Amino acid sequence: MAYRWPKFFDNRKDRIWFGGDYNPEQWPEHVWDEDIRLMQKAKVNIVTLGVFAWALIEPEEGIFCFDWLDKIVDKLYQAGIAVDMATATATPPRWLTDKHPEILPQNERGELIWPGGRQQWRPTSKVFRDYALRLTKKMAEHYKNNPAVAAWHVSNELGCHNIFDYSDDAAAGFRKWLKERYGNLETLNRAWNGPFWSQIVTDWNQIIPPRECYAGINPTTLLDFKRFSSDMLLDYYRAEADILHTQTPNIPVTTNLMVMENQVNPVDCFKWGGYLDFVSNDHYYLPDERQLDEMIMSAAMVSGIARKNPWCLMENSTSSVNWRPVNLRKQPGEIIRDALVHVANGADAVNFFQWRQSEAGAEKFHSAMLPHAGEKSKIYKEICELGNALEKLKKIVGSRVEQSEIAVIYDYDSWWAYENGLLTKLFDYRAEFFHWYRAILDAGVTADIVGKNDCWENYKTVMFPVTYLVDSDVSKRAERYVNGGGCLVVTYGAGISDPCDHVYTGGYPGAFRDILGVRVEEFSAIDKDHTISLSNGWSGSIWADDISEIAGDCEVIAYVDDTADDRALRGQPIVTSRPYGAGKAMYVGTKLSRKDAAQFISKNVFGRTALCGGDESPMRIRRIQGDKSYEFVFNRSRSKAIEIPVEQTILYGSNIVMKDKTIVMEPSGVVVFAP
Ligand code: GLA
Ligand code: GLA
Repeated sequence: MAYRWPKFFDNRKDRIWFGGDYNPEQWPEHVWDEDIRLMQKAKVNIVTLGVFAWALIEPEEGIFCFDWLDKIVDKLYQAGIAVDMATATATPPRWLTDKHPEILPQNERGELIWPGGRQQWRPTSKVFRDYALRLTKKMAEHYKNNPAVAAWHVSNELGCHNIFDYSDDAAAGFRKWLKERYGNLETLNRAWNGPFWSQIVTDWNQIIPPRECYAGINPTTLLDFKRFSSDMLLDYYRAEADILHTQTPNIPVTTNLMVMENQVNPVDCFKWGGYLDFVSNDHYYLPDERQLDEMIMSAAMVSGIARKNPWCLMENSTSSVNWRPVNLRKQPGEIIRDALVHVANGADAVNFFQWRQSEAGAEKFHSAMLPHAGEKSKIYKEICELGNALEKLKKIVGSRVEQSEIAVIYDYDSWWAYENGLLTKLFDYRAEFFHWYRAILDAGVTADIVGKNDCWENYKTVMFPVTYLVDSDVSKRAERYVNGGGCLVVTYGAGISDPCDHVYTGGYPGAFRDILGVRVEEFSAIDKDHTISLSNGWSGSIWADDISEIAGDCEVIAYVDDTADDRALRGQPIVTSRPYGAGKAMYVGTKLSRKDAAQFISKNVFGRTALCGGDESPMRIRRIQGDKSYEFVFNRSRSKAIEIPVEQTILYGSNIVMKDKTIVMEPSGVVVFAP
């Protein structure tokens, strides 16, 4: 899909989109005028309308009411505010689920998910699809000549609630998907290792979604079901997008992905990124010490999913959400700082959920741009400041994030396969990935995040952290890459199985063994609160590889020392580096502590003499356009101010104080330099 970015109706190209979800249907009309006044005051230039408005747009089957929506679209247009128009299909109205209860999803036990919340529909239901696509078509026909509509927003957070459905519709869809993947039952039985526990399938109709059963459910079935579930929603997305593209070829189409820490059971965003006209993401901050680093990582991942094209932050929050066990609020300056983290990583649009905080309903205590307290509030004031900041930053629109010296491979297949269990429950794919991403940040570098099937050969260094599933194509590419001079870094838990989750035998990690020159005989889980000490003073936790053999030309960076609880590990190599062709291949067989991981990255991978970085050094991210470079600098410390020299013109700064020729950056501080 060719990249296309929403255009504003006055044809100006130099604006960062700024706004949020707007739900005027929840408010009497007299509030709308106040909304618009306050949006204008904050310099809002786009809002998302209609996400959950199906019941108001089609109050009865086949009766469509656009009057109310037209009225607000017109008011917004007159006020110079564009619309990201949702297709309104995210939640079916009650009349529809009442008439067609067969569209309601089922859980693993075959129990029905009832209406009363949201998104209660089966991704594979033909009945649902017929109704939803009819609505999509009506929306497209109705708004096709409306200049206010800058983008289409398909459904909402596809997969947020209804990704896994175990109904008979899902069973039929799963069989069809498997037929396309495997062609015949013999191949399927081989992929699923049918002889194991007598699971051989002799008729396609015997296949069911992985409904609840006794322990040890087939991991390849589970993995395929996750792939299938992601693909079904993508298929659904494409069905809506096809209608929109036909009716309104000039309006780009998107949907909001959910790349963030708490995203569970996700869709394969790297695959989806190839089908969106422009990529959008929803991100909710982690209210703990990981906040900034996790946000940088998620935003860098979205940039990778967008293949470095500008992307849209479709939702984030001004302060606390309502859905964590304890909802901690944002600190002063963090609305702006967080928004600029996304902008630094390629977002040309900053939006919030939601414009006006609800008075009632399940999200009434979720923060908003205009809180319950109203116009005279710290939040609204900071939103107005953000509006000004984004206007000052308009020069950067269309620039691209500078390529990093290192690409880190992120892989949904590996994540999904790991969710099916391992030797230790202490292992969590995203947490391990974050650990290594953070080690790179601590070394002073923002890494690019790339899908394993995308191009990573043009980076100086490529890291495969815990990338469990690797096919022969990727392992061949890795070999060529290192041969040609690349630096390959592989960690424990990577390259173990093929795409059917069949282990490469003969010693782990089969997909990379010959390049790395290491042979792992067994994994050794390390218990909670235990560590192993290494010969160079480092330590490891959670997982240690029993590396029983290394190639003669392998340099050992660290051995396990003689105090390890697991006696067989004592004295064995655990971190290695091997010259290979014109490049080198490095292996880390344990989860190094945060500090040691940063040392390893800085010294051994990047070849620096000292650790530059750490969380008291500024974090710098650059966006480039032609010969112009815009540098975003963040203070990573949550408690201490840092000082940086004034290097170029300050385009914008927040939570900073000028002191002679230096800038004092408070916690939450951010500076943007321009040429
Ligand atoms: C039981 C079963 C075996 C096997 C082992 C694994 O003993 O009888 O089939 O599953 O558990 O520990
Ligand atoms: C998601 C949804 C929104 C809202 C927010 C609350 O991102 O898309 O409708 O529920 O969560 O955080």
